[in-house]
Amino acid sequence: MWKSYEDLQVLKGVSFELAEKEVKVIFGPSGSGKSTLLRCINMLNPPDKGEIFLHGKNITASGVNLNEIRTRIGMVFQHFNLFAHLKAIDNVSIGLRRVKGFSKEEAREKALEALERVKMAEWADHYPAQLSGGQQQRVGIARALSMEPDIILFDEPTSALDPELIGEVLQVMLDIAKAGTTMVVVTHEMGFAKAVATEMIFLSEGAVIERGTPKHFFMKPESERVRKFLKQLEVLYGTHEQMIDLLEEEEK
Ligand SMILES: Nc1ncnc2c1ncn2[C@@H]1O[C@H](COP(=O)(O)OP(=O)(O)O)[C@@H](O)[C@H]1O
Ligand SMILES: [Mg+2]
Repeated sequence: MWKSYEDLQVLKGVSFELAEKEVKVIFGPSGSGKSTLLRCINMLNPPDKGEIFLHGKNITASGVNLNEIRTRIGMVFQHFNLFAHLKAIDNVSIGLRRVKGFSKEEAREKALEALERVKMAEWADHYPAQLSGGQQQRVGIARALSMEPDIILFDEPTSALDPELIGEVLQVMLDIAKAGTTMVVVTHEMGFAKAVATEMIFLSEGAVIERGTPKHFFMKPESERVRKFLKQLEVLYGTHEQMIDLLEEEEK
């Protein structure tokens, strides 16, 4: 797909397929168009050119109910985007009531289940300001999960967090990936990518430079740009990769 903002061309023909239960990891330098790509996929910011198919249905066609599409493509944001005046439980249940038309009781029950999955049920009655960034992001993930979408898009979900809070969010993401959730994750957490990505896509200046399995990227990336980028990440994020390795070992 293609997308421009005035005369700035941000996406230059990015194309991929996403199978059920896939975990696609998108990474690349700041400004390369990663957020724009996600916002195109769920039609928050429709592409200028190109088509998006969800289960064979063209969702970029005119006359498509975009509200319905957005319930089927969930989003987890870098800065959580929780409602400050709502408790955790209400942040999760509000969409179920408004969009899915659930009763208050039904919505509460579903919301609690979702909070349970991200290990936040005991914080249900806390307001965002009373929660750490990691806890807020887990509520953000519960909100997306609660709608039972076909796909969840994650836009750098851990990049606004203090280092010590990243692990708890990655663990939740690993859990839901392993439970078979179809996900597109923009992240520089290479430990996460290594553990669950079905394919990784390196984006630069709005174009796909290289794509392949985690093994491909960590063993023999072709482009010099990718190699340099991964090297920089290693310096910055090495410890998190080790953290994921540790989590994996504990599970065994
Ligand atoms: N709403 C917007 N209006 C104008 N330019 C934008 C807008 N959103 C993003 N851009 C520009 O598009 C480019 C890609 O942005 P973005 O998709 O946010 O990149 P990334 O998420 O990879 O950092 C950047 O140059 C950014 O400044
Ligand atoms: Mg971004």
